[in-house]
Amino acid sequence: MKGKEVIIGVTGGIAAYKAAELVRLLVKDDILVKVAMTKSATKFVTPLTFEALSGERVIHDMFGQEGTVIDHIHWGQESDLIIIAPATANFIGKMAHGIGDDFLSTCVLAATAKTLVCPSMNTRMFENPAVQENLSLLKRRGFIIMEPGQGALACGTEGPGRLPEPDEILEQAKRLLSDQDLSGLKILVTAGPTTEPIDPVRYISNRSSGKMGYALAKAAARRGAEVILVSGPTCLNPPPGLGFCPVITAEDMRRSVFENRPGCDIIIKAAAVSDYRPRDCAVQKIKKGAESISLELVKNPDILAELGSTIEGSPSVLVGFAAETENLIANAEKKLKAKSLDMIVANDVSRKDAGFETDTNMVKFIYRDGHIDDSPLMTKDKVADLVLDRAKALREAVLEG
Ligand code: CTP
Repeated sequence: MKGKEVIIGVTGGIAAYKAAELVRLLVKDDILVKVAMTKSATKFVTPLTFEALSGERVIHDMFGQEGTVIDHIHWGQESDLIIIAPATANFIGKMAHGIGDDFLSTCVLAATAKTLVCPSMNTRMFENPAVQENLSLLKRRGFIIMEPGQGALACGTEGPGRLPEPDEILEQAKRLLSDQDLSGLKILVTAGPTTEPIDPVRYISNRSSGKMGYALAKAAARRGAEVILVSGPTCLNPPPGLGFCPVITAEDMRRSVFENRPGCDIIIKAAAVSDYRPRDCAVQKIKKGAESISLELVKNPDILAELGSTIEGSPSVLVGFAAETENLIANAEKKLKAKSLDMIVANDVSRKDAGFETDTNMVKFIYRDGHIDDSPLMTKDKVADLVLDRAKALREAVLEG
């Protein structure tokens, strides 16, 4: 996200503290962040907090010493996005009715950048027809409104009104900042391990964290694709704004993949499917007794091979992942051929900084025609974009015949 500039407008609600984390996350993504605060927001969090996190001066007083007299015009015209988080009922009302009585409200009035509004307030206030009508008015004028979350609020009540978590706002912001070069495409991604039950409390599985598959799904959604994420059990939160299909076993994953396959332009199988499952799952917990016991395993379906063998005539691009601990290229090439893939992404899972459970990956892209291209060690988010660039190019080649 280097080269992008975002303004965070913080208004006076208790969730102002969450804006600090949002600034940190945006900065971590190489985005230049400038913060403008209303006077009431400074009662909740100090400008110094935002200054330290953004590395930029914070403006909270139209006539103070922080900026120049015309910053309120420049800021919203030079930036790529304005995010109002939290947006109070009062500030939403001001934006809807063209009131400009402080730096942030005049900045929004003069802005040419898109504005993302993240309401946060007590449920009764949020549901008040005046606030709802103001939000509808803003929506009609092209403002993007993020639905508040549900749950326990600072005022002691429960219901809609919570500021969405900073990582959800970040994801939405990245979507608004990204080229929509995958729009119109339906992309199915599988992620995570599958777990195969032994009895009601035990299972066999593998060390896949799901991070690569989730990074792919988020990047595809960010770039405008309609995304279906079929995920085995992971500790990751389902990314917002995409079709999420949680599954447990390889059989479940197979069912979900084939159900969602019609109309897919690209299928990327990043999941680490268990190759075998226990022949029987005990109804009750297996009790300890004998010194040794054995578990009979039977083969699971190879979902990718099945997709590859039945894909003829369909314009879908099929991408697999190969998790290897030795003979990376030779083993991956074998899988590419055996499963009739357009491309396989090979990763050496014996490395400490790549493959399972890491935030980084180093992969090789191997194509049907034998061509291989390398990526250096990079974050899984960056690898995800490279995979999608290549899948998109393959898809265009298929369409050109
Ligand atoms: N795969 C699948 N169904 C399986 C096994 C694997 O769809 N039962 C997919 C994976 O999602 C991945 C690719 O096939 O995209 C390769 O998976 P990998 O585990 O590397 O290889 P396997 O084919 O299982 O072979 P092996 O375990 O012997 O290396």
